[in-house]
Amino acid sequence: MSRSQNTFLIKLSAAVVMTPLLMEGNSGGPPAGRTGAPRSSGFESTCAAAGCHTGTGNPFNTGIEMNFGSGGANYRPGGPRVTFTMTLPTASVYGFQMSARVASDAANAQAGTFTPATGQGVLCADGGDRPASGCRAATPIEYLQHSDAALRSNAITIQWTPPATNVGDVTIYVAANSANGNGSTSGDRITVQNFTLKPAAGTSNAPAIRADRPVLQAFSGSTGISPGTWVEIYGANLATATREWSSNDFTGAKAPTSLEGVRVKVAGKDAFVRFISPTQVNVQVPDGIGAGNGIQVELANAAGSNTTTVSAAAVSPALLTTPTFNVGGRQYVAALFPDFRTFVGREGLIAGVPFRPAKAGDTIIIYAVGCGATNPASPAGEIVPAARNLASPITVRFGQTTATAQAFLAPQAIGLCQFNVTVPNVAAGDIAIDATVNGVATGQTLFTTIGN
Ligand code: HEM
Repeated sequence: MSRSQNTFLIKLSAAVVMTPLLMEGNSGGPPAGRTGAPRSSGFESTCAAAGCHTGTGNPFNTGIEMNFGSGGANYRPGGPRVTFTMTLPTASVYGFQMSARVASDAANAQAGTFTPATGQGVLCADGGDRPASGCRAATPIEYLQHSDAALRSNAITIQWTPPATNVGDVTIYVAANSANGNGSTSGDRITVQNFTLKPAAGTSNAPAIRADRPVLQAFSGSTGISPGTWVEIYGANLATATREWSSNDFTGAKAPTSLEGVRVKVAGKDAFVRFISPTQVNVQVPDGIGAGNGIQVELANAAGSNTTTVSAAAVSPALLTTPTFNVGGRQYVAALFPDFRTFVGREGLIAGVPFRPAKAGDTIIIYAVGCGATNPASPAGEIVPAARNLASPITVRFGQTTATAQAFLAPQAIGLCQFNVTVPNVAAGDIAIDATVNGVATGQTLFTTIGN
């Protein structure tokens, strides 16, 4: 196994993060995602985007006055809705878009929730109006804004309910338009500003695991876990630092069971901590956790601990894919050719990434987690010295056609299983691909592409 394969395997076993969608109206309210807030890459545009509002712009972060009321620029976790007043530079008509984010994860984490006042509305990051049930978990970011028509007053009421737990600092991002009322985009004054709200004094900053889908399996985002698989734990105050494990954290081939004082126990057993941040912690589930519902997951750090429960089974297979492999609404498996460089898929599927369709007889490599025990056994939390065959039978199907495949725990990695699959003779084009381990399916809806 070459160095590049090694580095690739190590990197691959860490590839687990999420991200949001945007899309393009007018005085009746701008399109979602125009507050200048951070995005997974770069920053959102604002009202002054090319082809939109022109005129005089205020120097960044000046021009808007925010009166947060008696509590000042603080918030009380779990506290009641608060009302504050935003005053824009004077003009004829006004508009704004606002977003509230967890400062430590501003691109992804919504903080609290908005209640629209008269003449206002709330959009979700997917571009749609916020339904009564709130924005979808995949696109949680909310945008409060003027709606239906430009506002007549520059004193704007904002109603915001703080988050249930102490999420650390909250940043409010605003892009506002003090417009001349000419019914067009010219001659307006755009102001882009952000404000920080701090947790009120005396607020506990003990870790708080989120209530909705607290623990998700890597690659699939499913809620079931198994010994040796990789999971992401979500919440607030989970850690005060953001970092991944490094070789210094290892004891020989043994992975760390804590990073910067952050420790996770599953069914009372130490998990292996790979990545920490205030809002997400990634760990490998230890062996010997048992099976069933109500399996305890406890996260502890210097400020305290918090516990949630999950369901566990002997295996919980999930094939490697990421949000980037969702193209045109279709989720493709991240399968590789044996050069460990070229992915399986139609050319150009993802810009800048080498792809080609697979042909009958080709060998392709698919990584997975949640494959359960090996024979001989390979303890969780240890770098696997050599390939270890899975103890359970596996199947891989292209549509209704079963492929020849073998699976093993990949060497020089931790908890990563590798499927080597011979592509069967099936029709060219996109085809559904799934796998089972010990008869247990992944539950994922994945595709791959066959060429002539
Ligand atoms: C947060 C960002 C934005 C705010 C607060 C905002 C606000 C407003 C306001 C107050 C007006 C009325 C202007 C007037 O009568 O003088 C307006 C009009 C308009 N805006 Fe925006 N806008 C924003 C973003 C955008 C963007 C990104 C575009 C382009 C895609 C856009 C396109 C237009 C157009 C074409 C009009 C004139 C037609 C109409 O009234 O709908 N706006 N906007």
